[in-house]
Amino acid sequence: MSSFKPPLFLLAAIGVVIAACTVPSMPEAPDGAKFYAENCVSCHGMSGRGNGPLAKELDASPTDLTLLARKNGGNFPRAWALSYIYGHPEQRDLGRVMPQFGGAMANDTVPVEINGILTPTPRDLAGLLVYLESIQR
Ligand code: HEC
Repeated sequence: MSSFKPPLFLLAAIGVVIAACTVPSMPEAPDGAKFYAENCVSCHGMSGRGNGPLAKELDASPTDLTLLARKNGGNFPRAWALSYIYGHPEQRDLGRVMPQFGGAMANDTVPVEINGILTPTPRDLAGLLVYLESIQR
């Protein structure tokens, strides 16, 4: 058993290269704006600020999605946002109001860099992530 431990700076450099290659273009990802318009606008609103037409009728206020990065010290919380949108079965029992978007999506994935690791991510959500990052203020 040989255990090759690459130095940390090398891992960091690889992470940066992967991020640079995968994030801005993401050619396999579909148009996130379209997915957003079809699935999120009713609650989170056209601008993402949480003022969609359904918002008033919900028990919880839809989050202002343009502030996700600001609320996370200036970094878009990619892993967290994805897992929230995707959803977990347990969250149904925790008073979560927002629907879950996982399910059948899990079969069609593309690699997305999350916390420095290329992670299989549902294709639709990969596009959505690019869109959400683009509306941060
Ligand atoms: C039926 C209304 C509804 C729809 C549709 C909806 N959301 Fe939400 N969303 C909410 C509510 C309400 C919350 C506040 C937490 C909760 O109760 O689930 C929320 C929370 C979130 C959060 C967590 C933000 C935080 O900081 O807590 C994210 C991210 C999010 N929504 C993204 C999306 C995206 C992207 C879509 C479309 C794919 C979407 N939502 C569709 C109602 C909705």
